[in-house]
Amino acid sequence: MRPLAYEEHVLTMDGVELSRIASKAGTPCYVYSAAEILKNYRAYDDSFGDQPHTVCYAVKAASNLSILRLLAGAGAGFDIVSAGELFRVLKAGGDPAKIVFSGVGKSGAEVDAALEAGIFAFNCESEPELALVDSLAHRRGIKARVALRVNPDVDAATHDYISTGRLAHKFGIDIGDAETVYECARRRENLLVEGVSCHIGSQLLNTKPVVEAVDRVVGLVQRLRAKEFEIRHVDFGGGLGVAYKPEDSIPAIGELVGVLRQRVANRGLHVMVEPGRSIVASAGVLLTRVLYRKKTGAKEFVIVDAAMNDLIRPALYSAHHEILPLRQTSVGTMRADVVGPVCETGDFLARNRDLPQVFPGDLLAVCTAGAYGFAQSSNYNARPRAAEAMVEDGTWRVIRRRESYEDLMRGEE
Ligand code: LLP
Repeated sequence: MRPLAYEEHVLTMDGVELSRIASKAGTPCYVYSAAEILKNYRAYDDSFGDQPHTVCYAVKAASNLSILRLLAGAGAGFDIVSAGELFRVLKAGGDPAKIVFSGVGKSGAEVDAALEAGIFAFNCESEPELALVDSLAHRRGIKARVALRVNPDVDAATHDYISTGRLAHKFGIDIGDAETVYECARRRENLLVEGVSCHIGSQLLNTKPVVEAVDRVVGLVQRLRAKEFEIRHVDFGGGLGVAYKPEDSIPAIGELVGVLRQRVANRGLHVMVEPGRSIVASAGVLLTRVLYRKKTGAKEFVIVDAAMNDLIRPALYSAHHEILPLRQTSVGTMRADVVGPVCETGDFLARNRDLPQVFPGDLLAVCTAGAYGFAQSSNYNARPRAAEAMVEDGTWRVIRRRESYEDLMRGEE
């Protein structure tokens, strides 16, 4: 599984031995491959070819400054969902003119910060939000570019919690009502109503729901243009899945982009996408050390030093992450639950998993953890958040030091 490889039975990331990182930086520790992040970003960028486009990395997937700086340096735009993410992107040297601001609940202060920064566009999700953007832009004496995020009522066929494109979900404006809302938006003097956006969900396993959504959006663009709206850009959101299991078959980035290109060809549209997972998931692993093994009844547990506070995806979405030993041995296999120290039965990284035999002190890599891993980590059980490291050009460095106990109490009386 790229970018990982066993070299003489030792697991490496782009040639760097992961156990060296674990012993220096400690565990739990996230490690990212800069080369893999860039490879995925470029797969999007290159596949668009001469189609005018911007690839706006969805910051929520992994927002470490070093990751953002890497992508900004490669020319990426950014999809943000809070003023905190805006702050991060600007700190990392991201170009404000390539930022889109998504999200269903932007506050006045957040909208104002984005206006001040001069972002490219707001993906607005309701009429009151349009009114807020308009009035804050008026106060600044500027015009704010907006796209309406429409809800195309398409089943994304993914986990319930990360499916966003049905009318029962809180996201977007019902595509059936969109033209009325566009008319209202057009009457607002401080808005440039130039885009249409949508995002139907995450970890999408095929292009079918995307095609359905894109066709509905393109249909809307045509109807809007017929009413003399100057629609210049479409934003198709993120959502492309990744293979969490070796046997998972997911369309390649180029295949998805090919489908998008075909649908927008010769329409004079600038196309934006907001991929998060498909850029960083495969680039990251979570390193953890085995603390204990124990049996209760027929069940065997491998207790490790990473927990649900470090990686909540298994607990929250029943997500599968491959687990590899950092050193390959030939001592046979075992079936076990891999669990952390947190006081919840839901604290597991894997259940009933067939693993090579592992013993206390052994190091493991939880794979495909680069997206929504560290980003969704917490201090639950007063556990300091993990360190983060990056492998780049045959060497590695810490890009976020492990939190200290002092960090845990920062800001408290
Ligand atoms: N754009 C918008 C408006 C979004 O809401 C999202 C993700 C993205 C782009 C990026 O989607 P991606 O390309 O990463 O699929 N924590 C969950 C995933 C939550 C996704 C939320 N929105 C998980 O770990 O599976």
